Amino acid sequence: MNLKRQDLLRTSAFIAGEWIKTPKTFKVTNPSTGEVVAEVSDCGEDETRKAVERASEALSGWSSRTAKERSDILRRWYELIMDYQDDLGLILTLEQGKPLEEAKGEIAYGASFIEWFSEEARRIYGDTIPGHQSDKRIITLRQPIGVCAAITPWNFPNAMIARKAGPALAAGCTMVVKPAESTPLSALAMAYLAEEAGVPPGVLSILPASEPAKVGRVLTSHPLVRKLSFTGSTAVGKELMRQSAETVKKLSLELGGNAPFIVFEDADIDQAVEGAIASKYRNSGQTCVCANRIFVQSKIAGEFTEKLIEATNSLKVGDGLQQGVEIGPLINQEAVDSINELMRDAESKGGTIYQSPEGKGLSGNFYVPTVIKNATTEMKLHGEEIFGPVSPVYQFETEEEVIELANDTPYGLACYFYGSDHAQIWRVAEGLEYGIVGVNTGLISTPVAPFGGVKESGFGREGSRYGIEEYTELKYICWDIGE
Ligand code: SIN
Repeated sequence: MNLKRQDLLRTSAFIAGEWIKTPKTFKVTNPSTGEVVAEVSDCGEDETRKAVERASEALSGWSSRTAKERSDILRRWYELIMDYQDDLGLILTLEQGKPLEEAKGEIAYGASFIEWFSEEARRIYGDTIPGHQSDKRIITLRQPIGVCAAITPWNFPNAMIARKAGPALAAGCTMVVKPAESTPLSALAMAYLAEEAGVPPGVLSILPASEPAKVGRVLTSHPLVRKLSFTGSTAVGKELMRQSAETVKKLSLELGGNAPFIVFEDADIDQAVEGAIASKYRNSGQTCVCANRIFVQSKIAGEFTEKLIEATNSLKVGDGLQQGVEIGPLINQEAVDSINELMRDAESKGGTIYQSPEGKGLSGNFYVPTVIKNATTEMKLHGEEIFGPVSPVYQFETEEEVIELANDTPYGLACYFYGSDHAQIWRVAEGLEYGIVGVNTGLISTPVAPFGGVKESGFGREGSRYGIEEYTELKYICWDIGE
């Protein structure tokens, strides 16, 4: 691997400031080529318990530093990540597959959370509340929760750690992270730079593991872990929630989505197509906020769909290291199989499939971006998160009908709509049961806004001033000042 700083390629686990080689290792492979990128230490229960105990020992030293001291260290971490953005981007592309430019974009996106929370560290305010009796004074404090755990996904190997570790460390918590088994290298490189920035031993540990359930079980059952933040599927989120109930842990769960993307007949069609492409094909369709169901009002459905097919066909698919590639591979063969299954089902139920002829020769984990015309609610992909570059287009007649269709899912993470009638924009934004609403935009991710879902998409918010509150406990002091 051709890195400016070769030492960023770490293969040992990072536990309490030590780089630890475990007897067992596992392979990290490049989803574009199937080649082995590295062999990484494989953590189990013992390493997890050790990391949690060290995190607990480090807690009082870290939380008693001034907010400015923590802020300065996080700021330095942010700067180091940006200094080595190219190297971190390359590591990310090699283990995850996304095109290099997009991978570098993710590094900047992740770093922006650390920057944001380095600033928020100094603004964790309490209140004074008028007392209920003349001799009482009431004060609130926000204090760090304690040892936190994070279980993070492969689709954003850097950013999902940054937006958990950033606020946790800013608030004075310590954190143990279990990155996804397919993408541990980005996590380890981040930890290496955190160490260089001055994050003390024990404050941040990274546990690569080929058997995530073993590590997860310790994290969810250990009494010293006071909070778990998880990004991933709803099924796994529910299991972690069940496991965490025993020790009543605080949870933040960012789970699956089934995002509707609605285009009303008075929308700017070109702008809507551009937004659909941005939302649908980011990370080859592998994000929880990707447009999953595209609803177009019937009067403009023909024109919109033709333009969407044309724009989809122009996307260049290939190895993320090739110049100009916009769509990398899917993460593994299982992902390809699951999309093929959804496609067979859609075709058998009357869907018309449009794929660029140029992509037809692609094999391995690559999937040609696809548009499905005449999508219906009977198709499996209406109810499931596609997690790949497939755009089903449905038609609708009225606002009431489309709000009902859009809300007809147990999920509620992100949704999008395009239109120009201001009264309708308010009605629809209020009527959609989602945590995030994009109006005339397909890109809603930013550290300054509260990211998170409702219903079975989970709870808790990441980013913004609300994101840091997730890592604090609210305490109130009732003070009797005497007569
Ligand atoms: C996700 O897919 O979980 C996160 C996407 C984002 O931050 O935009």
